[in-house]
Amino acid sequence: MNNKPIGVFDSGIGGLTVLKKIIEVLPNEKYIYYADTDNVPYGIKPKEEVKKYIKNAIEFFISKEVKAIVIACNTATSIAINDLRKEYTIPIIGIEPAVKPGIENREGKKVLVMATPITIQEEKLQNLVKNLNATEEVDLISMPKLVEFAEKTEFESNEVEEYIERQLGTYNLNDYSTLVLGCTHFPLFKNEFSKIFPNKIQMIDGGLGVANRLKDVLEKTELSGNNELEINYYNSGKLANETDTKKYNSIIS
Ligand code: DGL
Repeated sequence: MNNKPIGVFDSGIGGLTVLKKIIEVLPNEKYIYYADTDNVPYGIKPKEEVKKYIKNAIEFFISKEVKAIVIACNTATSIAINDLRKEYTIPIIGIEPAVKPGIENREGKKVLVMATPITIQEEKLQNLVKNLNATEEVDLISMPKLVEFAEKTEFESNEVEEYIERQLGTYNLNDYSTLVLGCTHFPLFKNEFSKIFPNKIQMIDGGLGVANRLKDVLEKTELSGNNELEINYYNSGKLANETDTKKYNSIIS
C-alpha cells in the first residue's frame, strides 16, 4: 500500500475527462491535477517547445513525490512518452486515440479519428493505423479550435457547431459508424457531435482504458492507496483559485 498522490496532467481541462473515469475506477486515492493553463494549446505548437512544457509538469510531479503519473493528453503522449519512460523510473501511463476498439466496433462502416494537428501528424498514430491494417477504414481529422472553445468552457454553441461543420466540410458523414475522440478535450463536445453526426454514431474515447491500466499498474507494483478521495488542482504549477477549482470540479462531477 502507498498513500502518496497520483499526478494527472494535461495542457488544460481536457484531462479532467480522463480524471473523471480514473476516479470512478480508483476512488480511494489522492490526486494532483496539473493543467498547463499558461501554455495551452499544445497541439498547434512546435514539438520541441511542447516537450519543454511536458518536462516542467513531470518535474513538478516529482517535487510533489507522486507515486505514478498519468499523461491525460494524447498530444503529449504521442511526442514524449517514450523519452519520459527512459528518463524516469516512476510509472507513467499515457493515452492514445482508441483506434483499435473503433475498428473492432465499426460494423462495416468507416472510423473517423479526431485529434490535434500534432497527434495526427505523429508517427505514433500513423503506425497504429498501419499496424492494424486499417488505412482504408480510418480517416484522420484535426480539430484544433475545439481546444480553445473548451478552455473557454464553451462546449455547446452556434460557433462550436459551425466550426465542427466547417472542418468536416466535404466528408460524407454517413460513411462513418464510429468517432474516435483522440484528444481529451473532445468528450466535452459529445452533445454537439451527436447533433452533427447521424443518429447511431458511436463515440469512443480512451479515458476508461487509461483508468483500468492505471489500476493494473498500481496493483502490480503494490502502490494502490487507501485514502479518502482528495483532488488538488494546479494551473502550470500554481495552486488553482476557488473559481477554477469549482470549474474543474463541475467537469468531473
Ligand atoms: N488535451 C490534449 C490532447 O489530448 C491537448 C490539447 C491541446 O492542448 O492542443 O491531445
